[in-house]
Amino acid sequence: MENPGSDTELIAERYRRFAEHEARGSSPLYQDLSHHVAGSPGLLAFLAQFPSALQQPNLFLAAVRHVAGTPRDPADLDAMMVRHAEDVARTMRVRRTQTNEPGRCASLLPLLAALPGPLALLEVGASAGLCLLPDLYGYDYGGLTIDAPERTRAVAPVLRCQASAETPLPRRPPQVVWRAGLDINPLAVESTSDMAWLETLVWPEQVGRLERLRAAVEVARLVSPGVRSGDLRRDLTALAATAPADARLVIFHTAVLGYVEAQSERDAFAATTAELGATWISSEWPDVFPQTAAKLVGPAPAGLFLMSVDGVPVAWTAPHGQVLVWI
Ligand SMILES: C[S@@+](CC[C@H](N)C(=O)[O-])C[C@H]1O[C@@H](n2cnc3c(N)ncnc32)[C@H](O)[C@@H]1O
Repeated sequence: MENPGSDTELIAERYRRFAEHEARGSSPLYQDLSHHVAGSPGLLAFLAQFPSALQQPNLFLAAVRHVAGTPRDPADLDAMMVRHAEDVARTMRVRRTQTNEPGRCASLLPLLAALPGPLALLEVGASAGLCLLPDLYGYDYGGLTIDAPERTRAVAPVLRCQASAETPLPRRPPQVVWRAGLDINPLAVESTSDMAWLETLVWPEQVGRLERLRAAVEVARLVSPGVRSGDLRRDLTALAATAPADARLVIFHTAVLGYVEAQSERDAFAATTAELGATWISSEWPDVFPQTAAKLVGPAPAGLFLMSVDGVPVAWTAPHGQVLVWI
């Protein structure tokens, strides 16, 4: 077991860094609350009972909101912790900071629509499976809109994306005949508690993102994306074997392979996609597959994921799919 992080000064420094480097500009409330935690001996002592991996600001603040609602200000946070410290601690031990961002489908769509179909989609690190439904959402690429299909149109989100002029935008979504997800800790769209947790992972001021998430969950409840429990390092081949043989198998992931620490295991995963004869779509920070990034000329643009197909770079995308720059 990891050593409990008893050094409260290290925890305080982590919260100050989070406030200034992550929350600043995105969430004034999280910035304020994190600075408050950094200066509060009581809250630092509370956090010191956890191993360092569980002391992260995103986990603590989401756990508070999940248990007691969003604190209005630091005094409100203190009052909530007086009443709910035990429940917050329990939540921190059982939950993970795993987001699911359906907006990423806006950057996946042009890549998927360019493949000859019909498609069998297999997503690893699928969370609740909201990125497994790219054919069921609406899109607004500025000059071009794509309607959600009739069966989901009433509830589907319209995903907005600013795409560069060279992007081969599709006129219609791809034909998807099968979909399945794999996740080490899947979240069930049918579970009120799982979906409430996903919602609390969205930062308080990100209202548009929350609306998008809720709408995508409605779509997923109609369609059931089917995410199974499993590890992408061990369970991919067995799941891929259940895909229909007469469809093109596409194995994809967004913001996942960075969680697999060993480069050799990331590369082994990529090799398995090739052995399975699948098309492999990756959307990750560029250092996750350095051999793919090395095929590019010039430095990587800051703050963007690199999208590749079978290890060939094709586009840069903003982490929530709101920008797409074709290479
Ligand atoms: C940041 S979330 C991204 C979820 C989704 N791909 C998206 O873009 O919205 C990363 C997900 O990867 C899952 N994950 C991490 N390591 C994994 C592994 N070895 N096998 C399967 N899933 C894993 C986590 O449980 C989590 O749901």
